[in-house]
Amino acid sequence: MLRDNHHRPVNYLRLAVTDRCNLRCFYCMPEEGIEYMPKAELMSYEEMLRIVRVMVGLGIQKLRITGGEPFIRRDMMDFLGEMSRLDGLQEIHITTNGVVTAPLVPALKKLGICSINLSLDTLNPQLFHEITRRDDFHKVMKTFEALLSHGISTKINAVMMEGKNDHDLLPLAMLTKEHPVGVRYIEEMPFNGGEAHYDKLWWSHRRILETLQNHFPDLEKIPDPPSSTSYNYRIPGHRGTVGIIAAYSRTFCGTCNRIRLTPQGLMKTCLYDDGVFNIKNLLRAGATDEQLGHAVLDALGNRAKDGFEAESRRRFGLPVSESMATIGG
Ligand code: 5AD
Ligand code: SF4
Repeated sequence: MLRDNHHRPVNYLRLAVTDRCNLRCFYCMPEEGIEYMPKAELMSYEEMLRIVRVMVGLGIQKLRITGGEPFIRRDMMDFLGEMSRLDGLQEIHITTNGVVTAPLVPALKKLGICSINLSLDTLNPQLFHEITRRDDFHKVMKTFEALLSHGISTKINAVMMEGKNDHDLLPLAMLTKEHPVGVRYIEEMPFNGGEAHYDKLWWSHRRILETLQNHFPDLEKIPDPPSSTSYNYRIPGHRGTVGIIAAYSRTFCGTCNRIRLTPQGLMKTCLYDDGVFNIKNLLRAGATDEQLGHAVLDALGNRAKDGFEAESRRRFGLPVSESMATIGG
């Protein structure tokens, strides 16, 4: 069992396979997009496979593929096939915006992908266009339907934005009535590739919960899975569940089991740090698997205790403002 210097078990790697994206979500990127990394800076599939293999050897059991948008990287399905055959890796999950995902769902089912998180902040096509700056709502809904019809465990990630999708909170919760889906409301973080949007967070985890409770007075707390970042609830009579992720308030750091790799190979032991070392550079300089493993263990031996400490240790600039697409959502 891999543990950090605060004795937290670490068994979960979030691997961002690209910083490219086919949407321009308001909370993630400015309208004109972000400056993408040169291709040569991105890890190749071969490099990612080797790094993940080393990490699985250390105790990583669960992998999430994220981005940018994973499915716009060429040959992504072949890469997933390779990952699914990796000995010792128990679970693969994927986060996608769903724009090009629908036709791939049968193949994802075949590969045994454990679950998909679909980013969807509104059920209103026009507002979707406004938030993502692209007119792709119906493609995302096609993906949602395909996931449900193939019985792939699905969660919807909805970032709550003051003055934007306030009126979607309840309609999104109503999706859980008919569908066995987990709708998760996420506090907006300042990872938007630009300036902060607000002085103060309006849609805090507390306000999200109060709003749900006011509307569904018999909202029931259900047990959260170990190391869950969401606080989960059930609306009696509904097939799915709702959850709240205090991504900005950072209330869950005490049980954090995850590390991250950015598309250029920067290892992050916290979403709020600015990278602790670049494992791809080490690999390209000729490091052995053992040396790569040691570098990971060193980083875990010096891990910030929570997202506030990680933020205060940043070397390259505060406040946090990089795009979520470059760090992996
Ligand atoms: N704040 C909160 N969540 C964000 N995501 C992206 N940017 C932000 C942000 N600034 C989430 C989206 C998406 C996942 C990849 O990351 O919900 O589903
Ligand atoms: Fe793309 Fe996800 Fe960022 Fe939206 S949040 S622009 S879908 S990477």
